[in-house]
Amino acid sequence: MSQGIITASYIGATVLFILALSGLSNQESARRGNLYGMVGMAIALLATISGVTGNWAILLAGLVVGAGIGLLLAKRVQMTEMPELVAILHSLVGFAAVLVGYANFMDPNIHFTGIDLTIHDIETYLGILIGGITFSGSIIAFGKLSGKIGGNPMLLPGRHWLNLILLIVTIVLCKMFVDQSAEGGGMMPLLIMTGIAFLFGIHMVMAIGGADMPVVVSMLNSYSGWAASATGFMLNNDLLIVTGALVGSSGAILSYIMCRAMNRKFIAVIAGGFGTTSGSSSSASVEDQGEVVAMEAPEVAQLLNEAKEVMIIPGYGMAVAQAQHTVNEITKVLKKKKINVRFGIHPVAGRMPGHMNVLLAEAKVPYDIVYEMDEINDDFPNIDVSVVIGANDIVNPSAQTDPDSPIAGMPVMECWLGKTTVVLKRGMATGYAGVQNPLFFKENTRMLFGDAKKSLDAVLKDLG
Ligand code: TAP
Repeated sequence: MSQGIITASYIGATVLFILALSGLSNQESARRGNLYGMVGMAIALLATISGVTGNWAILLAGLVVGAGIGLLLAKRVQMTEMPELVAILHSLVGFAAVLVGYANFMDPNIHFTGIDLTIHDIETYLGILIGGITFSGSIIAFGKLSGKIGGNPMLLPGRHWLNLILLIVTIVLCKMFVDQSAEGGGMMPLLIMTGIAFLFGIHMVMAIGGADMPVVVSMLNSYSGWAASATGFMLNNDLLIVTGALVGSSGAILSYIMCRAMNRKFIAVIAGGFGTTSGSSSSASVEDQGEVVAMEAPEVAQLLNEAKEVMIIPGYGMAVAQAQHTVNEITKVLKKKKINVRFGIHPVAGRMPGHMNVLLAEAKVPYDIVYEMDEINDDFPNIDVSVVIGANDIVNPSAQTDPDSPIAGMPVMECWLGKTTVVLKRGMATGYAGVQNPLFFKENTRMLFGDAKKSLDAVLKDLG
């Protein structure tokens, strides 16, 4: 393929990636957005591969193995395991940036001199640094999201000083690397920096509390983009620079949105320490909070039949139970009875950004009755029945009332302001943040215990 066609393909792929991102901003166009992304990536791969003048057999073997593993993982993964999969894939992007950085540094065919060499060295250094942090940080995020590592933040004494020292050492090592590289050396500072980057990634994510994990996922997404972008500069590949910058900046915007949704400051989250004050009243034992009132499915069906305004609040438990299709059936029945049913979606419901929207779209719940938290939170005083399906932290009033709670300050769905709230869950277990929920003990709350899918099937049967 001629250089002109390769450049044209790169521009085409870039345009498709931008269209993909704009498509993903809205449920109705999300499918189309995904399609643009896939076509863009196919064009980018073809154009890049056609420009390769090395050993084709190794390249093809790598492609077959990589694509095979990717296909297998995508086929096997459950919706509830998606965040872990995304985290581990980010770690691969980071590791690839580290390996490409080293390969490029050791390539005997690359000869730069003067300022060009300095710029190239800094690109290499930054690519490996960001890639290293992304790699180890994503592995820890994978461990935390899959429950293999405890969710509590690990806070070393003087951790901010430690981070500052690591930053200063990294800058000094960069200077040493650039100086030594000009003399034909530089491997030692590069290796030490890589070790520091790995340690920094581990320390950074270990220090972030369980309830702040949504920000970590989007932040590592952003880092993986910047690592790719730095690698693009190093390899002089425009497409990689642009694609990396798109991923990096969209991840940064998502992190900002997540922080706003949780009422956190971004710097405070990455410095760690939220979610440390457990043991407060919010995590008090079940007995301390009073009694819960349980209900059976026929009673819930009757409540719904008598309601005029119903709000459904889905959470992680709906994903676990795979109850979204039954939810859609219930919605159809209620709408036929002229009952106004709406869905309220909290920005961090579930375990990944947009988790609930994906499930509801899969079940074909109409988009026009699905609302963001900000759009409907003021309506709760007019709601007759709120149905909380496997949600916990996102409907926890202690976020507003208990300044010591790990989720203090996080905006929540104020369903307790409505007439009645029905909460579907299996028992009295806490949610992701590990705090007890006073909502369950309120006078106007009723609990429907059991797996959300089974409970909703029973409610559907009784709706008549
Ligand atoms: P959670 O607070 O995690 O609560 C989920 C509840 O679902 C649990 O209390 C559980 O109680 C119940 N449940 C589990 N399986 C169930 C089933 N089969 N049937 C019925 N109920 C079931 O969920 P949430 O309210 O959606 O809040 C999300 C939390 O995850 C937040 O703390 C958020 O910060 C965190 N987080 C979010 C993200 C993103 S990006 N969205 C990423 C990482 C972490 P039982 O065991 O008693 O049934």
